[in-house]
Parts: sequence; C-alpha cells; structure tokens
Amino acid sequence: MNITFNESSRTFKLDAKDTTYMLMAADGEYLAHVYYGRKIPDTDMTSIMRFDESPFTPATNNRDRASYLDSLPMEYSCFGVGDYREPCFKIRAADGTSTCDLRYKGYKITKGKPALEGMPATFATEESPCSTLEVIMEDKPAGLEVSLFYTAFEKLDVITRSAIVRNVGDKAVYITRVLSTCVDFDTHEFDMITLNGSWARERAVERCRLHHGKQGIDSCRGESSHQNNPFVALCEHKADEDSGEVYGFNFVYSGNFAATAEVTQHKKTRFVMGINPLDFSWKLEPGEQFTAPEVVMVHSDCGIGKMSRTFHDLYRGNLIRGEYKDKRRPILINNWEATYFDFSTEKLISIAQQASKLGIEMLVMDDGWFGHRDSDNSSLGDWFVYEKKLQGGLKHLVDEVNKLGMKFGIWFEPEMVSPDSELYRAHPDWAIQIRGRELTMSREQYILDYSRKEVRDYVYSMMRKILDSANIEYIKWDMNRQHTEVGSFALPADRQQELWHRYVLGVYELMGRLTTDYPHILIENCSGGGARFDPGMLYFSPQIWCSDDTDAIERLKIQHGTSMCYPCSAMGAHVSDCPNHSCGRVTPFATRGDVALVGTFGYELDVTRIPEEDRNAIPAQIEKFKKFNPLVRTGDHYRIGNMFEDNSWDAWMFVAKDKSEALFEFVQVIGRPNERSRNIKLKGLDPDAYYYEESKPEEKLSGAALMYAGINVAKMWNVDGLYGDYVSKTLHFVRA
Ligand code: GLA
Repeated sequence: MNITFNESSRTFKLDAKDTTYMLMAADGEYLAHVYYGRKIPDTDMTSIMRFDESPFTPATNNRDRASYLDSLPMEYSCFGVGDYREPCFKIRAADGTSTCDLRYKGYKITKGKPALEGMPATFATEESPCSTLEVIMEDKPAGLEVSLFYTAFEKLDVITRSAIVRNVGDKAVYITRVLSTCVDFDTHEFDMITLNGSWARERAVERCRLHHGKQGIDSCRGESSHQNNPFVALCEHKADEDSGEVYGFNFVYSGNFAATAEVTQHKKTRFVMGINPLDFSWKLEPGEQFTAPEVVMVHSDCGIGKMSRTFHDLYRGNLIRGEYKDKRRPILINNWEATYFDFSTEKLISIAQQASKLGIEMLVMDDGWFGHRDSDNSSLGDWFVYEKKLQGGLKHLVDEVNKLGMKFGIWFEPEMVSPDSELYRAHPDWAIQIRGRELTMSREQYILDYSRKEVRDYVYSMMRKILDSANIEYIKWDMNRQHTEVGSFALPADRQQELWHRYVLGVYELMGRLTTDYPHILIENCSGGGARFDPGMLYFSPQIWCSDDTDAIERLKIQHGTSMCYPCSAMGAHVSDCPNHSCGRVTPFATRGDVALVGTFGYELDVTRIPEEDRNAIPAQIEKFKKFNPLVRTGDHYRIGNMFEDNSWDAWMFVAKDKSEALFEFVQVIGRPNERSRNIKLKGLDPDAYYYEESKPEEKLSGAALMYAGINVAKMWNVDGLYGDYVSKTLHFVRA
C-alpha cells in the first residue's frame, strides 16, 4: 500500500510516483500538514513542524492557542477558531453562528478510489492503481462529520482530494463554504501560473510572483469560464519548462470555482481551491451529506513541462472514458463557419459529397436545424427538426451522408431555452429566474433550471427522439451563455443559493444518462468555444471545442495554454477558411493543417467553395494527420516555443513513450531577416540513441546532439520554405 500510518508520530504518509505527501493529527486533534514535495523514505517528519509562531502580543504562557491555530499548517482550515488565513469550511449553524472546529476522529486506508456521488472524478485502472486515505473529522457542537479523501496514484505524481460533509446531529446546518483542498506550504517563494482569457482567446498563460495577502482566480458565471480556467500552478521562481519544482492544481468541476493563494505573516503560502463560496449555501438536514468535487494535485520536480505531461497521462488514462478514449477520432467537417444558419439539406449533402471524396469521415450539422431557427433569436428547447430547412427530414439527410461512407453528427444546446420557443411558451417557469425581476437576456436566450428533474427529463426525451430517429454518431453539446438572476421556482427561499451547484449536478446527471444510453456516440463539449474546457467535462466527453477562434496563429497560444493541464488529444481543432472569421488573418492552408494536427482535427469551411489548391491539399493533410495522430494521442508532449514570451515563432514536440520516434512542429510566425537559421534544442529523446529525420535517413544524429546542441531549423529543409509569415514545418524523427 502506498499510504501508511505511523502510530507513534500519528503521521500519514502518501507516496505517489516520485512524490510524498504527509499530514498528521497534531496536538488538540488538529489535522496538520507536514510535507508535500519530492519523495522521501522517512515515515516521521514531525521534526520539521514548528507548532507555533509568536502571538501578536507577548504572552507568558508557553503556548498561546490563538497563535498556534493561526500558524499551524492545516489540512482543512475552519472559520472562526483563530486561524485567520483563508478558510476551507464555514457554516451557519442552527443558532445562526458561523464558527466550526473540525478535529481528527479517525481514518481508513483502502485500495483503489471510491467514486464521488453524482460527480465526475478520476479513477483507478489496472495499469494505473492507487490507494485512498479517508480522514474523518468531527465538530460535535455543530453535529457535523467531514471526511477528507486523499488518493495517491502509484505510477503518477498525482494526489487527489475531495471531501464529504455529513450531518450527524439533529438540526439542519447550512454549509456556506466547502472547498476541496488546502495546502499550507512552508514557503512564499512561489510564482503563480494561471490561464486567463476571454471569448475567442481562452487560456492565456500568465505568471506572477506571489505577494503578501490573497491573490487568486474564480468564476461566478455558472461555468468554469473563458475568463479563468480552474487551474493554478505554484512554482519556484526559477522553474521553467524543464526544471524546478512545480505544483499544479486542477478542479474537476464545471461551475463556479475559486482558487486562492495567500502569503501569510509568517511568509508561508496557503493554497485553497473548491466551489466558489460567493452566493453558495447548502442546507444539510440531519442524516444528509454533501460531496465537494475533486481537486487534482500534480507535483513535478522537473519543471512545468513534466507537470503538464503528468496531467495528460492522468486524464487520458484515468479520467476520459468511453469508446473513443484510446481511439483516433473521425475526421469531421462542421458546417458552422461554412454556412452559419443558412443551410439546407441540399447544401449539406453537397458539402458531404465533396468532403467524402477528399477523405473526410463525418459531417457535423451545427446550430440551426431545429424549431424554426434561422438566427440565434429563437427555438432553443424545440428539439424537433426544422422541416422547412431540412427538406426530406433528418433521417433522409443522415442516410444520404451515410451512403457517401460518412458518419453524421449533430449539434445540441440542451441547457438553454429561447423566449421564442414552444418550450418556453409552455413552461416559462422552467427558466432560471427571480420572480418580479427582469430576466437578463444573453445571446437572446435563457437558461433552463437543470436542478429540476422534470426539466431534464423533458429535454432528454426530445433529444432521444432525435437520436433514435437516424444514425447519429456524434453530438456537439454546446452551452452559450452565463448565468444571471439565479433563482429557481422549485426551491424554497433557504435553498436558492444551492441552485448554482444543483444546476451543475443536473448537467452531469443528464450527460451521465446520455453516455450510458448511447455509449457509441462520440460527444464533443463546447461552450461558446472553450468556456467549459475543464476536467469535469472531459469525464463525459473525450474532446472539447478549444475556442471559437480557429485562426492558426491565435490557436498557437490557445493550444499552448490549454496544454498546461489538458491533453492535446482532447482539443477540438479545425482547419477553417481565410480570412479567418474571428480575426481576419490570412494564413497558408498548410499551416492551418499543421496547427490543427495537434488536436482532434477536422474542417470548418465550405469545402465546395475554397480555392481548388487548398481543396487538393486536403487528402495529403488527412494522411499526415492519420500518420501522426497515434503520437499525439499517446506520446509525451513537449512545449519548446512560447508565444507569450516571443510571438515570432513557436515549436513543440510529441515523443513516443518508448522514444522510438518524435514529431517536431515549427511555426515561423513572423519572418525576419537574419533570424531564419535559429538552432532549436529538441526534447524528450533518448540521449544514447541515434535518430534520423524521415526524409534524410542517411543523416543520423544522437539524441544527445539533437537535445543538447539542437537542430538548425532553416537548414533542416529548403531555406526558401522559411520565407514569410505564418509558415510551418513538421519533422519526423525516427530512431535508427
Ligand atoms: C458556439 C460554438 C460554435 C457554434 C455556435 C453555434 O459559439 O462555440 O462552434 O456551434 O455556438 O451557435
């Protein structure tokens, strides 16, 4: 078992691959944090504990309790007892007070990992086993028990955390804050890396030095958001892609979240992450329990790159599920940027006819096929076919597409309702809203109250009718607005603040039903591009649309940022038309293909209308994707360039796990005189092996030479090919 308990020091030790995490039941039964970092063999590290720092007024007693609690590194900090740092847990008790004081009660260590009720979470597999520690805490006056769960993966540097709160008393208690992790680090010498952004420029990497006080990110938009991804890394100041100690945190949740790093008076850092306490409250009746979602914690002793690769391995092996988990995804063509709402059966068939000849494998019909939807101002919720637009009906269209040897996929936005819809006219109370208050419109739509089972059942029954009516093999599940006026007609006043979380649980419940009932359907998540690119969604869909910005150059940054913790194989990436619809940039067709190659790959353009030269390039582009996709899906990803620091070029690699081959991709974003013969050091190869570039088998270089001296990117191919802006090149290195 990779989790042990030392009776004499009352210390728990969790060993992940090269990581150790330690905690102890300290004086007064407080659960204290001891150590998190590189693996150490010792089972008792309590010698490093400083049990108190000086109080804020001189005291004569040798242990000032308040100073003890305000400086003890805590595993799960409570509000109200003298720990003034950021709390994890806060309540409103039956008497209206907020103090809670959780003390150690007992523990259990088990093999494997229990599922989290109603919630996505990582899981154990035969190839990647783990053990779980449950520490049971109690607050007798409040009548509460809290189980803290820690899972340590044996072959990955991963520790996950979550918590379950149980009301074991006889009065209802309101939970007003219930975070999922708390780590009290012994230093404040950290940089914080976050992924920030906006619509069409999601997950931009930002790195700042921590300062005294609290700093953090959050979402109170009802989704994980474009603006802040639920990911934070804390790293040594000197850490870079390849060296230094890094701690990565990612929240397996798709709604409101908060992550805070606080540098304390004693120059330590407390890091907490969980459901955003803003406007959160949960009434727990006697006998009931509440589950806080999971936080994945990754430790790397070799820089940011290794942290990312650990996340990738975990998510590919121990989070993503279903038939397509380990399979190449069909190469699709999506009609959104090709036609927007203006399409017909005939138009779609003409796209499919052309696409099938070029080797494209699936047609995805995007928004606009239902109700009477000709623009974004109607019909969400009316999931029946818009017969006037789709002449001959859905089955006819799907059959025709199938006859061409292609699969068929369809778009839904199941969480939404348009005011102009039969659904809204029949059930206006099904929208999330507050009685007597004007409801804010966003993209001309409202959000359905997914906390209500009858609402979910109704939407699902309509979806089922569509899915059962034709051979549909893919769904794009979209979500295109953020929450306002959050209120439910089905909840009593003292449960209204549960709606944010109940909504997310409702979405998960429906996605769970869909994946169980239709295991063969490939699901791609989407939220106005990439506003719900989070591990919660990855549990239900093996791929997520990365961004509505399909421009190859903008995508370099978006995909780089996304790769911080999400595997490239999960990134929805398409070759689209030029000038690009989001930013107007014109890039070579080949570069668009090379950038989309990093993700799930597909096309988002009117293939009947693009220049012939581009169309003719598609079959070779598809072959290239097929050739390299196994490396992208299963290999190790290395970032080499960094557009956030130097936006004139980018480069990255995928290296086979056995180091037998590697794909190197380079994009010259801006062509500049005298900068073409750049030497770039490759990564991840076997230094002792010899490699050749596929097109030049006679020229062999050692992995050591390729990594420590590098390759000259201009000389590796025709120098003229490097003239100009936005040019790309892929090189395939094979072990000799
Ligand atoms: C969102 C998605 C797009 C497209 C449109 C349709 O913006 O991100 O890809 O599906 O909705 O309305």
